[in-house]
Amino acid sequence: MVTPKRYTITAALPYTNGPIHIGHLAGVYVPSDIYARYLRLQGKDVAFICGSDEHGVAIPMKAKKEGITPQEVIDKYHNIIKQSFADFGITFDNYSRTSAKIHHETASEFFKKLHSEGKFIEEVTEQLYDPEAEQFLADRFVTGTCPKCGHEEAYGDQCEKCGTSLNATDLINPKSTISGAVPILKKTKHWFLPLENYEAFLKQWILVDHKKDWKPNVYGQVKSWIDDGLRPRAVTRDLDWGIPVPVEGADGKVLYVWFDAPIGYISSTKEWAAREGKDWEPYWKSDDTKLVHFIGKDNIVFHCVIFPAMLKAEGSYILPDNVPANEFLNLEGNKLSTSKNWAVWLHEYLEDFPGQQDVLRYTLTATAPETKDNDFTWKDFQARNNNELVAIFGNFINRVAVLTHKYYEGRVPQPADFRDIDTQALEQMKAYPAVIGSSIERYRFREAQGELMNLARLGNKYLADEEPWKTIKTDEERTKTVMYVALQIAAALAVLSEPFLPFTSGKLKSILNLNPDVGWDAISKTTSLLQTQHQIGEAALLFSKIEDEQIQQQLDKLEATKATNKTETNNSEKPKLMPQKETINFDDFTKLDMRVGTIIEAEKMPKADKLLVLKVDTGLDVRTVVSGIAESFTPEEIIGKQVTILINLAPRKLRGVESQGMILMTENAEGKLVFLNPDVDGVGNGMTIN
Ligand code: 2FM
Ligand code: ZN
Repeated sequence: MVTPKRYTITAALPYTNGPIHIGHLAGVYVPSDIYARYLRLQGKDVAFICGSDEHGVAIPMKAKKEGITPQEVIDKYHNIIKQSFADFGITFDNYSRTSAKIHHETASEFFKKLHSEGKFIEEVTEQLYDPEAEQFLADRFVTGTCPKCGHEEAYGDQCEKCGTSLNATDLINPKSTISGAVPILKKTKHWFLPLENYEAFLKQWILVDHKKDWKPNVYGQVKSWIDDGLRPRAVTRDLDWGIPVPVEGADGKVLYVWFDAPIGYISSTKEWAAREGKDWEPYWKSDDTKLVHFIGKDNIVFHCVIFPAMLKAEGSYILPDNVPANEFLNLEGNKLSTSKNWAVWLHEYLEDFPGQQDVLRYTLTATAPETKDNDFTWKDFQARNNNELVAIFGNFINRVAVLTHKYYEGRVPQPADFRDIDTQALEQMKAYPAVIGSSIERYRFREAQGELMNLARLGNKYLADEEPWKTIKTDEERTKTVMYVALQIAAALAVLSEPFLPFTSGKLKSILNLNPDVGWDAISKTTSLLQTQHQIGEAALLFSKIEDEQIQQQLDKLEATKATNKTETNNSEKPKLMPQKETINFDDFTKLDMRVGTIIEAEKMPKADKLLVLKVDTGLDVRTVVSGIAESFTPEEIIGKQVTILINLAPRKLRGVESQGMILMTENAEGKLVFLNPDVDGVGNGMTIN
């Protein structure tokens, strides 16, 4: 696109069903913040927009689990999330919430416009219904097997394994997550957006126009979705939590959360503009605005197909220029999980590592899952801090500041003649804004941060090669030049580190007493960012070493989570046991005649799914036993099996066949019947059991 006049940058609205963890940060919020900060440093007009996603079934489900109301859930997590983002230095221009009035109004208006222009199909269809909970099942209320990849825990709206967006009725073997019941089909009316009508537009817009500039993971997922064929997508739900469908005849129905949430970007922009006295519309409706959505990979289809189709249907909005979705971050080799508490929670990190926001930002960018899933480990976090931030960046700055105070009372010295090594260092420094900027503009944040560290390495090596601490004794003029050059590199680092390490950048600017007007572009234009005689501020350490004990504490925390999860799994796997029956006396017990027998014949009882007719050799005789085990065994697999049989039970007829005993069975953890198996050496038919 031609040079944009303004930028609308959105970061996925987090669900308020839990706090923010490092996966969210690495995938969405750190890269989008780097991008927004970088653009602002260039003097661009930026609206960096986010807010809480407070509708959808995840909220009432969480409320049920915590024994509080949905409103209490969203208030609790909205506040935690908002605060932790602010403390972490994520510079949203506005952080709104979808429960806000402005959002309800904006989303309702959007729906009404599409409705009145006939853009929806209104249809009564059969949807999954939980007969026990008496509720329709969609989205997270139902799981089943993904028809695309076979993943057995796909949700009613999406398979998190392969990213496919689903309709609940697509699931194979669906099961209600509320009651565990197998759903039935029941008729209900809904409004559908006929995505197939937008196929030609989507094909041109993504598969042709953005083939080259979108990330391959994003492009690939969208292409496969379009290639699979687009179908009508329901944009309403039978639920009591959400934005009521704003048309007649829609009682008890709300907007689908993925219909309202992306509109949240627009309402949050409106809220911001109203507060700032600006007009929101150019940020969403003007062709010279660049719109970029930062999201995780599970959101691709919603932002690249469904939301654009909605925007296109509405007609007055621009489309995203890019959707730089990341892959997933794992933690110590396992998938991050809010429900399993397998996470590093942002609000806890901020408590455990006060003042060390940048270490986490740095590590998450260095290991960002930009092209493939990646792993966060505490050891790596420690190594990146100690071996890179402390040993390279921090060490360079510390030397520069301390020596400037020691030799020149904190004043930038007048350089003498420049040698080649000096001019080369300064020329290389001048190239960094373009190099780093180019990576950021291509959404390669890891690469960009790597270049920033290369500039710190350049400074470090320059000092190590020129050794001003030695030349100060032999050549004062030379030392002045070296310190002058090193100070310029330090100043460049103060500016260029701002998007990545904003707290460090702030500290460094105050150590150097840097004029706040020195911007990104100044670095490539001048070699005197700090002029001769400029007085720098006090020296201070930028980073401190992270000790093994701190890392061990975090690892212990994760071990404790593992142990808790294991106990919970074991408890949930424990079969439900029947309560003890009435007490019997010894005489009652001795009346039972239980023997070891062998099944010598077995066949299915005609027209009875559960029954097998067995011939059992009891040692005393061969008798017929009708047994309700056909769902657990085939006749062939039990012939020859030794069993425990109660032989003095009064005979009774089942489907016309007299049963002359009972085989003793139990149920295993999976609910399958198993024999009380006396199959051990030396046990023969007819032997008694007592
Ligand atoms: O996946 C999620 O966390 C969603 N709450 C993201 C919504 S993004 C946008 F559309 F609001
Ligand atoms: Zn799948």
